[in-house]
Amino acid sequence: MRICLVSAEIAPFAKMGGLGDVSAALGKYLAKNGHDVRLVMPFYDTIDARELNIRPVVRARHILLKMGDKTYELDFFKTQLPGANADVYLVGCPLLYERGAVYTTDGDEYLRFAVLTRAAIELCKRLNWAPDIFHANDWHTALLPIYIKTIYGYDKIFQKSKTVLTLHNIGYQGIFPAETVNDLSLSAFYFWFDSQDLYHGRINFLKNGIRHAHKITTVSPTYAREIQTETYGAGLEKLLRQRANDLLGILNGVDYQEWNPETDVFIPFHYSIKNLSGKKKNKEALLKKAGLATRWLQQPMVSMISRLVEQKGIDLLMGAMEGLLRRFEFSLVVLGSGAIRYEQFFFSLQERFPERVKFFRGYDYALSHLIEAGADIFLMPSLYEPCGLNQIYSLKYGTVPVVRKTGGLADTVTLYDWQKQTGDGFVFEHYNTESFTWAVEYALTTFEHKTAWRKIMINGMKKDFSWEKQIKEYEKLYENLMQANDED
Ligand code: ADP
Ligand code: GLC
Repeated sequence: MRICLVSAEIAPFAKMGGLGDVSAALGKYLAKNGHDVRLVMPFYDTIDARELNIRPVVRARHILLKMGDKTYELDFFKTQLPGANADVYLVGCPLLYERGAVYTTDGDEYLRFAVLTRAAIELCKRLNWAPDIFHANDWHTALLPIYIKTIYGYDKIFQKSKTVLTLHNIGYQGIFPAETVNDLSLSAFYFWFDSQDLYHGRINFLKNGIRHAHKITTVSPTYAREIQTETYGAGLEKLLRQRANDLLGILNGVDYQEWNPETDVFIPFHYSIKNLSGKKKNKEALLKKAGLATRWLQQPMVSMISRLVEQKGIDLLMGAMEGLLRRFEFSLVVLGSGAIRYEQFFFSLQERFPERVKFFRGYDYALSHLIEAGADIFLMPSLYEPCGLNQIYSLKYGTVPVVRKTGGLADTVTLYDWQKQTGDGFVFEHYNTESFTWAVEYALTTFEHKTAWRKIMINGMKKDFSWEKQIKEYEKLYENLMQANDED
């Protein structure tokens, strides 16, 4: 199959969260199975081009793309997706992508990604390459189905192309004033947009992607169900229910070439189910790195790696952590950045418990591996979680996850059953401080029972969430789509 995957993030070139990981993994594992997959993303100035073998695409140089009354000069470059037989095309447009950041709060954010979306389609035209599937991701590229059916509706090359839109997070929808339709070159097709929104003077990229994509996927089966409810639908629930027959939840996989304690290049000591001794040594290395005393080696180490935003349940930590630290003996290591109030909370916790709490503010890929390898417990008490990757890494690293029962967390972590000795984590249901505290306490007290703890760790380490398995679901979906008659 020929698959064109378009995304605002593709790791390692750009990664702000799981979107980057998953876009890259889809490319890599589809290519491994022999598909002709090409990925398209912006050539941000944050990409360090020196170490990459980046070449200009001869057939796609100096393209003038007209959007409303503005014209954008595009140059395409290509490089290889690491470890895969797939090309990544970088859309060069200094005016839009040289801002020193992947995302901005500039007023033209909608244009940065609408241009990316059209650039991907234009590129395929120049290469005379007809994708069977255009795979768009999140709000940034959600207008792809509309563009294909309108502006490019008469292009012979795309007559058989089908569109898939993956929802990685419906908390971000890309809502802009209705006038922007002109800048998107879609003023002649404004009736393709939701009329209620237009009436209220706005357009919603994600909503219109959901309306027009041939198939919609999201990144876990539970999230696929949840987003059809008022609690989790973020205003899109009714539309998602209407499209329920075309909506499918496919759990994300993990790239075990990168995340495996037996081979991880970022950790000083390797370990496995058969020999867990390296884990404690990593803990010692992590305590040292965090500037915490080695006496904490015998006590549980609790950890978190996260974007610090409301979605991730930081409010629960704000309500519970101090009390827990007073009642139990454990250390806490947190890596992340985001909203000021959350960063301030962790800084002040560190000030109050300097011997036991370390807050690493920022983004650090290598450190994220050491934390997974060194810590005993991983917190992910999300308000909502489309899939979540860190709890899956945690399972593999024997770092027992404490999660809320929502989205992908519910699909990957099973509550430990003391009697049956089954389960691999601590799961709570209700989004409140009491339930969260219960789960952390349960984890901390279980830690004292060495045999039980070992069993929980091993139960988790045995689980398999590999992309080799998950990619088959996408292949099945694409194949079904190609066989189906287009009813539109
Ligand atoms: P989301 O995409 O909502 O942020 P995921 O769990 O799917 O959540 O993916 C987050 C990814 O980003 C993981 O690979 C995680 O390790 C990484 N990550 C998040 N914050 C940091 C950080 N501060 N430093 C290093 N990696 C981080
Ligand atoms: C989003 C979600 C996260 C998911 C990731 C990759 O950022 O918040 O749950 O794992 O996308 O699909």
